[in-house]
Amino acid sequence: MEKQIAVIRGDGIGPEIVDQALRVLDAVAEKYGHTFTYTDVDMGGVAIDKWGEALPAAMLEKCLAADSVLLGAVGGPKWDGLPGDKRPEKGLLALRSGMGLYANNRPAKLWPQLAAASPLKPEIVEKGIDFLVVRELIGGVYFGSHTTEECGGEQKATDVMSYAEHEIERIGRIAFETARKRRNKVTSVDKANVLDTSRLWRKVMHRLAEEYPDVEYTDMLVDNTAMQIVKDPSQFDVVVTENMFGDILSDEASMITGSIGMIPSSSLGEGSRGLYEPIHGSAPDIAGQNKANPIGTILSAAMMLKYSFDLDEEAAAIEAAVHKVLDAGLRTGDMMAEGCTLVSCSEMGDAILKNL
Ligand code: IPM
Ligand code: MG
Repeated sequence: MEKQIAVIRGDGIGPEIVDQALRVLDAVAEKYGHTFTYTDVDMGGVAIDKWGEALPAAMLEKCLAADSVLLGAVGGPKWDGLPGDKRPEKGLLALRSGMGLYANNRPAKLWPQLAAASPLKPEIVEKGIDFLVVRELIGGVYFGSHTTEECGGEQKATDVMSYAEHEIERIGRIAFETARKRRNKVTSVDKANVLDTSRLWRKVMHRLAEEYPDVEYTDMLVDNTAMQIVKDPSQFDVVVTENMFGDILSDEASMITGSIGMIPSSSLGEGSRGLYEPIHGSAPDIAGQNKANPIGTILSAAMMLKYSFDLDEEAAAIEAAVHKVLDAGLRTGDMMAEGCTLVSCSEMGDAILKNL
């Protein structure tokens, strides 16, 4: 198989973690007889410095021309002072929207080797954590108008949140279809006791639920969901929600699995081209020190193989290699525990390569 992958190293720890993922992809290509070629794409702070904007049109074009996109992380204190529409994060939002990637899948799965790193009590962790946050990615308040104006001698800011039925329906379908391949359970999260967008969300989800009678369906308010995730995460299989609720809940979900550094994600729209990225940020405090955990990015590359290229065996081989290094007690700083061996970002990459 020949595939062309757009590679966005981005800012902070982005370049170091992406480098490890590319080493793993190269090793998989060699072992299974594939050819992966890479096109570098500037996005985020690095693009602002070089080109004056976070996602120049030519960079989006490169992503649209590729078979898939692998991303490290964007953003950092250097660009924090910029106005909202000039920030590195704006490049990420423009990329998601420009590629039509409305479905963001963020698995919250406990790696048994890291159970002790979960902040939850052992009796909660023992019941198992294995759910998927399906987050709507290109609608809602992230993409409504944002304005700040003078009003009666003070400033007034407004962010508009809107959802059309078709935007809710297509993400809902992804959730129901995905649940059928998992444990047949969908929890739809909203704030229907307050928001009109949530009341519409719920109406569309109920309509869909009738089409999927084999899938167990539950509505849950977002505040209650935040509580249930720490109280009894074993109750969840597929959690589907709008953009901002999904942003917040997916960070919470990742934390209870032990380390946010382990969690990959896929963002997909129509067609097989996706964007694959770890869910953590650019960690500027440890950037350039070879300390970051590359596993979230390496597992994102594995997700790309599986979901965009249908290379299930290759993806499974990467996951198995990660299991082996964790079994062997190798840990980067973010997930270090007593009795384990502290390794650097590149040493973690070396170890995964060796076990592939
Ligand atoms: C994420 C991030 C982004 C988001 C930021 C960087 C814009 O937090 O991918 O979860 O809010 O979507
Ligand atoms: Mg986030």
